[in-house]
Amino acid sequence: MRVLSGIQPTGRFHWGNYFGAIRQYIDLQTEEAAFYFIANLHALTTVRDPEVLHGYTVDAAIDLLALGLDPDQAVLFVQSDVPAVSELTWLLMTGAPMGLLERCHAYKDKKARGLSADAGLFNYPVLMAADILAYDSEIVPVGADQIQHIEVCRDLAMSFNHSFGEVLCIPKAKVLDASAKVPGTDGEKMSKSYDNTLEVFESPKVQRKKIMRITTDSRPMEEPKDPQGDPLYQLYSLVASDEDREQMEKTYREGGFGYGEVKKALADAAESYFAEPRARREALAAKPERIEEILADGASAASRKANEVLQRVQRACGIAR
Ligand code: TYM
Repeated sequence: MRVLSGIQPTGRFHWGNYFGAIRQYIDLQTEEAAFYFIANLHALTTVRDPEVLHGYTVDAAIDLLALGLDPDQAVLFVQSDVPAVSELTWLLMTGAPMGLLERCHAYKDKKARGLSADAGLFNYPVLMAADILAYDSEIVPVGADQIQHIEVCRDLAMSFNHSFGEVLCIPKAKVLDASAKVPGTDGEKMSKSYDNTLEVFESPKVQRKKIMRITTDSRPMEEPKDPQGDPLYQLYSLVASDEDREQMEKTYREGGFGYGEVKKALADAAESYFAEPRARREALAAKPERIEEILADGASAASRKANEVLQRVQRACGIAR
């Protein structure tokens, strides 16, 4: 299978990014081809400070490597290093129905809040479709919030094929049931824009403080509780061993415990879960030339594939012979 996914450098990665997406990147990197990129062109729709965007982009590369992405198995690159994708975006945009893009949630939500949206946000799903189609991707590992965008990608590809022949490969989203939507510290979907994140690489001390402030319900201690649907339990399940998770489930069902104990267990489990990647990250951050080299190699490998696909598409629609 040919696998591809992208992640925006709009801040440091949080548990939603890791458990919803990055963990799948690592599991799938041994497939026939795996392309993973840092979506800096998408991030430009929100990050408008060049130093900050560059810093987040480098941090994203280091974080992905520290979390287990192996550059000998997967191609890791920065989105803007492959200009063929921007050209493919235009070719797809010529056939993209306005109505389809108007229904996409990022644009729709902004409009609904009475904010003015720019063309970059409106066309965001077309750039994302080009990202996917430029590498003949078959599988796209993502969290649930990206399913709509992948549906748009499939629609655009099918309509392009309908006009010009079987040129584009139709991809499928791959979502993990257990972590399709990781909750944040307020119980809503974890997201940078809701300010409810637990970051993968924040200091254990800062993280513990955030965990102790997680919103819980006010049921009495004695009352047995159903762990399913409880955000605290959901977060704990992500970082605890199977044995500890089963024990915690039993504790919930029996009742007679305080949420403070669960929070402490969550903070402890999180600290040990991310201890190894944290140590690896320190070592990687000390070698900036190695990171540059990995991204440059990734850009050449990704460009080779994207140029080949772009040429096929250009020929099909009469732009090239
Ligand atoms: P982004 O940068 O917002 O998120 C990166 C990945 O993290 C997942 N994710 C979550 N999963 C579960 N629970 C959560 N709370 C949670 N929060 C984030 C997202 O689903 C995503 O998989 N448009 C994309 C970036 C992109 C892309 C692409 C992805 C650009 N081109 C091509 C796939 C293919 C985005 O904004 O992801």
